[in-house]
Amino acid sequence: MTTLDADKQLQLLIKFGGLVSREPRLDPLLELIADQVRAILNADRCTVFLIDLQTNELWSKIAQGLEHQEIRIPMGKGLAGITAVTGETINSVLAYGDPRFSADIDRVTGYSTRNALTVPLKNNKGEMLGVFQVLNKLDGGDFTGDDIGLLTLLGTVAANSLENARLYEDIRRTQLETIYRLAITAEYRDQQDTALHLKNISAVSCLIAMSMGLSADDCEDIRQASTLHDIGKVGLCDAILHKPGKLTPGEYEEMKKHTIYGAKILANTESRLLRVAYRLACAHHEKFDGSGYPNKLKGGEIPLEARIVAVADVFDALCMPRVYKPAWGPQRAYDYVMAESGKSFDPEVLAAFKAAFPGILKIYENLPVGG
Ligand code: C2E
Ligand code: SIN
Ligand code: SIN
Ligand code: FE
Repeated sequence: MTTLDADKQLQLLIKFGGLVSREPRLDPLLELIADQVRAILNADRCTVFLIDLQTNELWSKIAQGLEHQEIRIPMGKGLAGITAVTGETINSVLAYGDPRFSADIDRVTGYSTRNALTVPLKNNKGEMLGVFQVLNKLDGGDFTGDDIGLLTLLGTVAANSLENARLYEDIRRTQLETIYRLAITAEYRDQQDTALHLKNISAVSCLIAMSMGLSADDCEDIRQASTLHDIGKVGLCDAILHKPGKLTPGEYEEMKKHTIYGAKILANTESRLLRVAYRLACAHHEKFDGSGYPNKLKGGEIPLEARIVAVADVFDALCMPRVYKPAWGPQRAYDYVMAESGKSFDPEVLAAFKAAFPGILKIYENLPVGG
């Protein structure tokens, strides 16, 4: 029999609001809430169920040892499902004797529910977000009227944070998907095997960034944003974009404008990720010695992300067949890129490229090589 003294409970309660309001990501938030609520209610388990409007189900991540397994139950089924539909609080003192109880989850987790307190989770507009459920009171007794009040209160506090985290997640997902779709748009117009090119550049850029010790967030931004570096090619005419051979100097001048077009497409954005994409589109053909285009930027004037992607871009272009050249082997491409140290490329980026090269080679191992 384990009891929780009132002092400890009050301490946990005071901390609760601050803790949940500081976590914007949904999964860690759900874990945090379940942990805290379990402790505050002195219950063995707490499950936070959220409503999936698309499928009309409740879903939750259930701790299974160290793993978290996603479980889903239909609206209306079991204690949680009923509460989600009717909005009623259910204090089931003997779960297995309660016809409303569903043992589906217990069967999955191998858990044995003795008693269960289930309350609705509503946002401040009164809309149902999901259900809070605590299982097996640890002092051996039943959940009380006080527990009902407490769990309802915690639900109200958590609902706001949960709703924010959901919105945040949705926006993040939409952003990534939009970026990917935008990149595909450019791909459609390019004759080269651009899908693979984009995937490689993204992976190689990220590996270089990691090898330079950039933060996980920065590496992830570079990985995502690099897929858009050539988006400006959508502004080029077919005659140049699809020319089956070497470009004339005049055509090459036109081709260079893809950096300007890309910058225009991506300019003036508030999004952190799209700002990285903007800098990449604009500066990925700048060279370290100032001989690149479109702005002849030099050294540190070139954004770091662009100095990284420049190496990945040229390395990958050399490894791929082009209408104007066959594919080179990765070693030949590596040697070429290294020889451009201080000319095309930043020596520090190349040092990181060198360190990451064994990992990079793995990406290219299975590609056919022509010349
Ligand atoms: P891309 O083919 O993806 O090439 C990206 C960059 O890799 C090039 O930027 C260049 O710096 C490097 N690169 C690619 N192939 C070679 C090569 O055979 N030798 C050397 N030394 N470097 C190479 P760049 O030159 O600014 O070109 C930008 C884009 O313009 C290229 O992207 C490609 O789409 C197009 N392009 C450039 N030259 C030609 C050409 O002669 N014919 C055609 N059809 N397109 C070209
Ligand atoms: C139910 O809500 O009926 C299932 C409770 C559980 O076993 O977790
Ligand atoms: C260039 O560097 O002019 C483009 C790649 C090539 O055709 O050599
Ligand atoms: Fe480019």
